[in-house]
Amino acid sequence: MSYVPIARAPAAPKISEVALLPQDRLFVLTGAGISAESGLATFRGSGGLWNGFAVQDVATPEAWLQDPARVWNFYSMRRRDASAAKPNPAHLALAAAEEKMGDRFYLCTQNVDDLHEQAGSRRAHHMHGKLFESRCTSCEHILPDRALYTDAQKLPHCGICAAPMRPHIVWFGEVPLDLTGISRQLTAATVVLVVGTSGSVYPAAGFVYAARERGIRTVYLGPEPPDNADAFDEIVLGTASEALPTFL
Ligand code: OAD
Repeated sequence: MSYVPIARAPAAPKISEVALLPQDRLFVLTGAGISAESGLATFRGSGGLWNGFAVQDVATPEAWLQDPARVWNFYSMRRRDASAAKPNPAHLALAAAEEKMGDRFYLCTQNVDDLHEQAGSRRAHHMHGKLFESRCTSCEHILPDRALYTDAQKLPHCGICAAPMRPHIVWFGEVPLDLTGISRQLTAATVVLVVGTSGSVYPAAGFVYAARERGIRTVYLGPEPPDNADAFDEIVLGTASEALPTFL
């Protein structure tokens, strides 16, 4: 693990020896990289093809209107893969930090898998939705759902209003969940720790800029600098399962 100080304006705090101070309020944002060591492919790592599908063919409202069976087939494959995955030391370290820090800890994830929950996190906010939940396209009823829908004739319908059920996932062009709550947590933080995300999808990639504007200490952790590397006070190069337990 090595620190790669970013040449910053003199106002930037020097890299402290102590990762976190006892009074720190920690805001954590995780991306697909934290699940990479659990065997789940990252988006960019798989060359932008997810399970062989092009994103615009499966992860947009237009794709859903055009071919709901193909969309359900794609998310069923991701449910199958994610069901077989197990949390890694990085997920476990974040669950332990939540336990220890209480309301001084907030976890926002871009991931839709349930590895944070499997590791013991009880308050992870999934800003891009959850793979193991389905949502009614009409009455918006959300229910836990681990089923695989690969038969176009047997796609799910709402038990309340009988309208088609969709994956409870935020698609491209849709608004991430609870941005207000995320912003409130961000402005209350003293440290923003970003783990395993390429920093290329907004609004998540913009959180670090908002933190920096408020003079909040910003740290990135991953094997390579993210696209928004210029916004970070510190970049810790390493994989999540190696470096995150040490940092926390
Ligand atoms: P990406 O695939 O864009 O980026 C994954 C990041 O994880 C890269 O920066 C890698 O360097 C890093 N990485 C790889 N292995 C790692 C490891 N072992 N430990 C730590 N980091 C590692 O995935 P995201 O940035 O999460 O949006 O993608 C953001 C969003 O783009 C996703 O939430 C999804 C996608 O479109 C929606 O589904 C709405």
